[in-house]
Amino acid sequence: MAVIALGVLVSGSGTNLQAILDAIDAGKLDAKVAVVVSNVAGAGALERATSRGIPTRVIDHRGFADRAAFDAALVAELRAYGSQYVVLAGFMRILTKTLLDAFPARVVNVHPALLPAFPGVDAQEQALRYGVRIAGCSVHFVDAGTDTGPIIAQAAVPVLETDDTASLRSRILEKEHELLPRVLQWLAEGRVTVEAREGARPLVRIAGVACASLGTT
Ligand code: GAR
Repeated sequence: MAVIALGVLVSGSGTNLQAILDAIDAGKLDAKVAVVVSNVAGAGALERATSRGIPTRVIDHRGFADRAAFDAALVAELRAYGSQYVVLAGFMRILTKTLLDAFPARVVNVHPALLPAFPGVDAQEQALRYGVRIAGCSVHFVDAGTDTGPIIAQAAVPVLETDDTASLRSRILEKEHELLPRVLQWLAEGRVTVEAREGARPLVRIAGVACASLGTT
């Protein structure tokens, strides 16, 4: 089985990066993390990578004239390390065509909501404020919108009467840690295709997988 090279973009603590690394160690994910790039110096994810001997880079978005210039710098680093896929694992910046065109249909994001509900920041808080009874996470291909790209897989969790943002966040995170490596393995196995459709959004097909959701079966 070929091993895919992942360039992972992060802004925070990096528990999703950790889940990827743990899945690789467990033999459940045929991938290697080629480089971890953060827009935030001191992000916990960087330490997780460094302790594993994975190269890291910090590219502070505030040092660039516009989003496209920032993205061009990201592309240069991702390519320099041979990244084949780009994984947004808690990366809190919106990407432009500059990066998306460099990795067509190869940029994947994990978002802590059942899209298309609650895109953008503070998704868990949005869910609690709305009063939904089921929350969850989505792994999707990234397009030029905010969390609007074709959905690959989703996982559901219940919202409990006692939940606050922190408890809901951690319940959703557990599912993210299961779902993201699983999707990456489907990509590694070459199972995932995106089908264009007349009058409808593109549909992601996963060969040999009957149900691309967790928590509903
Ligand atoms: C995760 O919950 C991820 O879904 C979210 O940030 C968190 C990062 O956690 N991403 C977004 O909200 C993107 N819109 P981590 O740094 O521990 O992986």
